[in-house]
Amino acid sequence: MQLDVFLKKVSINHALNMLLWHIAEAGIEIAALIKQGALAGVTEKMTSTNVQGETQMQLDIRSHEVALAQLRASAVVAAVLSEEEEKPTMLETIDAPFLVSMDPLDGSSNLAINGVVGSIFSVLPNTGVSTLGEQAFLQPGQDQRAAAYIMYGPATLLVLSIGQGTHIFTLDHHSQAFVLTQQTVTVPEETSEFAINASNQRYWQAAVQRYIGECLQGKEGPRARDFNMRWCASMVMDVHRILTRGGVFLYPHDNKQPVKAGRLRLLYEANPMSLLVTQAGGESITGQGDVLALQPTDCHQRVPVLLGSKQEIQRLRDYHQQIHPQATE
Ligand code: AHG
Ligand code: MN
Ligand code: MN
Repeated sequence: MQLDVFLKKVSINHALNMLLWHIAEAGIEIAALIKQGALAGVTEKMTSTNVQGETQMQLDIRSHEVALAQLRASAVVAAVLSEEEEKPTMLETIDAPFLVSMDPLDGSSNLAINGVVGSIFSVLPNTGVSTLGEQAFLQPGQDQRAAAYIMYGPATLLVLSIGQGTHIFTLDHHSQAFVLTQQTVTVPEETSEFAINASNQRYWQAAVQRYIGECLQGKEGPRARDFNMRWCASMVMDVHRILTRGGVFLYPHDNKQPVKAGRLRLLYEANPMSLLVTQAGGESITGQGDVLALQPTDCHQRVPVLLGSKQEIQRLRDYHQQIHPQATE
C-alpha cells in the first residue's frame, strides 16, 4: 500500500495528510542528493557553523532548503524550526494549522565515511505563532500531532507515527513512492543490546555508570547474561535498530559540558524519536521523567535521552530514582 492510500485510510485530517506527503517528498529529494555523494559535492564541509557551533556540511544546508521548500509548498505549515537556523522561519501561511521542527540531516558526520544519515520531523499544532513567535514551538512532545524520520540507508525508509502506532515504509525507486512494508512495529520488551558513546564514560552520572557497568559484567554479573554493544553516531540509525530488534539507546546527562544537559536536541531529535518509540511500545525518559512530558524552555534545548525496550528503560528509571532521588531528570 502506498503512503497516500495508507494516510487516507487511517487519518481523516486532510491537512495533516498533505503535510506528511510533502515530508515524504522532501525525503525522496534528499535521498537522491545523498546517493550522488561527492559527485553532487554535497559531502564537503562548509566554513560555516550552525547555532550549535557545529561545522555544517553542504548537505546539512541543502537538506534544510529542500525540506523547507516542501513544507512551504504544503501550505499547511505556519512556521519551521530547524537545527540549521537560530530562529524559526515564519511562512506566508502564518495561520496554517501546523508547526514543524526538524533536523534536516541527522548523523551528518557519517557522510564523510559514506555511512547512514537521516532526516527527523516533529509536527505540532499551531497554537498561535503569529502572536507568540518562537514561543509557540515550546510545547511538550506529548502534544505532537505526528513524528517521522527518513533513513537513508541501503534502502530509503520512512518511519511514521500519527499517534496510532509506528509504521515503516520503503521507497520504491521505480515508482518513486513510499510503500508500507511494516505496519504497527513493536519494540521487544527485553533486550541484551545497548548503544552509548562509551568515550564519555567518565562524565556519566552514577545511575548510568551502574546500568552499563552491570551490562558489561555479562553472565558473571547481576544481569546474568551477556550484552552486545552498537553505536552508529546517527540517532536515526540507532533508533531504527531499536524499533526493529530492541535494545536501548542512551545519550545521558553528563558533566562534560555542564551547560548542555545532554547532546540531543529536545524539539527535533528527542521528542519525535520518543513519540515513534513509545508508539511502538517502547519507553523514553530523561532519567526519571518521560521525555514527552517535558515542558521545553528553549527552541534548541538539549536533553538527556534514554530510550528503547520497556523493561530496560524501567530499570534505568529505577536506578535514577534510587541514586538521584532529588533530580528532576
Ligand atoms: P547531527 O548530525 O544532527 O548534529 O546529530 C548527531 C547526533 C545523533 O544523531 C547521534 O546519536 C549523536 O549526535 C552522535 O554523537 P557522538 O558525536 O557523541 O557520537
Ligand atoms: Mn541530529
Ligand atoms: Mn542535523
